[in-house]
Formats: sequence, structure tokens, C-alpha cells
Amino acid sequence: MSTGLSAMSFYTPHRYIELAELAEHHGIDPAKFSKGIGQEKIALPGHDEDIVTMAAEAAKPIIDRYGTDGIDTLLFATETGVDQSKSAGIYLHGLLGLPANMRNVELKQACYSATVALQMACAHVARKPDRKVLVIASDVARYDLDSSGEATQGAGAVAMLVTANPTLLEIGTVSGLFTEDIMDFWRPNHRRTPLVDGKYSALRYLNALVEAWRDYQANGGKSYDQFSRFCYHLPFSRMGEKAHRHLAKEVKTSVDMDQALPGMIYNRQIGNSYTASVYLAILSALDNSDEDLTGQSFGLFSYGSGANGEFFDATVQEGYRDHLFDARHREILAERSPVSYEDYIKLWQARSGADGENTVMPDEAAGRYRLASIDDHKRIYTDRNA
Ligand code: CAA
Repeated sequence: MSTGLSAMSFYTPHRYIELAELAEHHGIDPAKFSKGIGQEKIALPGHDEDIVTMAAEAAKPIIDRYGTDGIDTLLFATETGVDQSKSAGIYLHGLLGLPANMRNVELKQACYSATVALQMACAHVARKPDRKVLVIASDVARYDLDSSGEATQGAGAVAMLVTANPTLLEIGTVSGLFTEDIMDFWRPNHRRTPLVDGKYSALRYLNALVEAWRDYQANGGKSYDQFSRFCYHLPFSRMGEKAHRHLAKEVKTSVDMDQALPGMIYNRQIGNSYTASVYLAILSALDNSDEDLTGQSFGLFSYGSGANGEFFDATVQEGYRDHLFDARHREILAERSPVSYEDYIKLWQARSGADGENTVMPDEAAGRYRLASIDDHKRIYTDRNA
């Protein structure tokens, strides 16, 4: 029996700032962003959007198509949690009307925790093949204004349905693992934005990739030439290009960038989505291929600062196209609109509720779910259709 993904769906807010606009404001060459870091747009949540509303938008199409039968666990992975105690998954549970008899927990380790959630989910459905797990990766990547990380902001969520005998992607049982205690990117509890040693983080990312790859090989993983596609954690797409080149060097082969570029199409339009990023890359590779990918294997690298790396693999299942939401994904991206630099600043300053003041949120979300207010320290989420 195999385990893996039977459905994947993403959501990103409907506003963005063009990186060319940011470059103009800073008086720098726009090619630094379009070529140097390989990004075009930064997705911007409204004041009434956060990891919970994005997760609800991402998960709802899966629930509508497949129902809730058998789902007994919800694992919510995020770096941008909205509460120190309550799992964001419980707000999501309420918004989506999920069954009461299920587990529900939030997982944290920078951009990496969705991979732990996925592996735990696969282990669970291997033990109980009649059960399913909803894995959510949802994050708002927000850096200080005028910092070097500013151009690598973004926001998005990916929802995944993990089952036995999956219909979309079988997740391989071999993983290459790596952990080291470093300070490359972190966010102490008192901070809304991370502290980051940008250049160091990029170097540690590449080191973690090699270490995880070596461990993957030592554990009997597939060889490099068995993969048709590679999907990387993408803080910015140029990082994925560097990673792909670095891995090819490690295995002493010539680099074929066409194996990695399809995974970067969505990221260039959305920006960093932390935990969701490598899963957005998988969706990008699946949705944007005219070729039938049935039976092909993807090499996957997940990185979380602090730091962890995991190299693992997925194999595309026969009939996978029937389980994509590619039309919806294209529509979400096509219906977005750009904002001016001034409006970007207003959105960047969106209230977090950390000051404890009651706040009614302006109605800005394009989707069905929104954070209506923070009332007596409680986040009040609403469903427009309820
Ligand atoms: N035309 C073309 N290219 C240009 C250019 C121009 N006019 N101007 C500059 N460039 C190139 C530079 O040569 C450079 O290329 P190389 O990387 O090949 O040297 C690239 O654009 C970036 O320029 P800088 O190195 O000067 O950029 P920077 O220092 O201002 O910022 C960064 C880069 C440090 C990565 C910064 O974006 C950052 O701190 N980002 C946040 C941290 C991050 O994303 N780290 C990645 C690894 S950690 C991780 O993956 C976890 C996570 O999600 C955060």
C-alpha cells in the first residue's frame, strides 16, 4: 500500500505589488529583482486576511470535491501563527464546519513544518488506511520595510489531502534529513518581522540541501537521473536555481534548469510563502505542464531556517489530472490587481492584534472567508456565505 496526496489546492490574496514598483521607489535597477532574485510580484493580504482565511480558501475546494468522510486529523503548519496557544487549525475547523471527532494541531519550524506534517500524515494513513489527513501550509512572509528581505515577501496557503493509495502523488518512504542549530532567520515572540542574516541563510540552505541529499542517498533513495522534475523551497526563485545548480554539482552532472523552472512559475508571481513554498512549487510543476507526467518522479527539497533540510520524493499517479485544481489556480492569479507603493505600505501595516485593542477590520478580502474583527482579544472570523 502506498501513501501520499490525493488533492492539493492553493490560495493567494488578490492584491500584489509589482517588484518593478518597489525598485522604482528605492531607485534601483528593476533587473535586480526580476533577474537577480527572480521575482515579479509580492502577494499582499488585506487587513482582514491571514493564515486562517487563506487556509480556508485553499481547503474549501478540496472539501467541496471530496467531502470530509474519513478525515480524522488536521495538521496546520505555519511560521506566522496568530495565537501562542490555540492552533490556527481550530479556527479553520470552525470556518469549514469540519467533523468534531478529529485531531487538530499547529506545527512550527520556520518554512519546514509542512513537510513534517506531510510525513506524519503519511505515517498515520499507513497505519489507518481508511483515514485521511488535511495538511495545511499557510504563511505571510513579511520583512522590514527597506530591508534586503523586503523584495522576498509574499503570502499564500496550500491545502493537501493525504490518503492511502493516493490519486495525485505517492510520497516515497525514503527521506534525507538534516538539522543544525544556527541563527540564519528567526522571529522572537516580541517581533512581527523576522531577523535574518540573508547571505548566510542562502549558504546554509545550500549546505542543508547537500547534507539532506547525501542522507537520502545513504538511505537508499532514488538516483538523480531518476527524477524528471525538482521542486525546491523557494524563498525567491533564484534560490531554487542556485539550489538546482548546486545539487547537479554535488552529483557531478550537467545542470538541466528545465527540470526546476516549471516549479518556479507560481512563486515568481506570489513571493515567499514559507511553509507553503515547496508545495506551491509542486503545484506549479503539475499545473503548468502540457506533458503527461504520469509515473514521473519529482525530487523535493524542503528547508526551514534554524535549520532543517529534508530531501524526499513524489511519484505522479495515473489519472492525476482529474485531481488538480489548475483552472481555479489560474483564475486566482488572473483576477489579482496591483497596488501602488502607498497602498502597499498601508497593507504592510495591517493590524496584528498584538496591541490587544478591539479592531473592526476593513472589508478588503476578495474571498469568502475573512477576519471580521478582533474583539476582546478574540479573533472573529466570518464566512460570507453563512
Ligand atoms: N541586474 C541583475 N542582477 C542583479 C542586479 C541587476 N541590476 N543587481 C544585483 N543583482 C544580483 C546580484 O548579483 C545577486 O546575485 P547573486 O546572488 O548571484 O550574487 C542578486 O541580484 C541579489 O543581490 P544582492 O546579493 O545584492 O541582494 P541583497 O543582499 O540585497 O538581498 C538576500 C538578497 C540576502 C537573499 C535578501 O533577499 C534576503 O535577505 N532575503 C531573505 C532571506 C532569504 O530569503 N534567505 C534564503 C535562504 S533562507 C530560507 O530559504 C528560509 C526562508 O524562506 C526565509
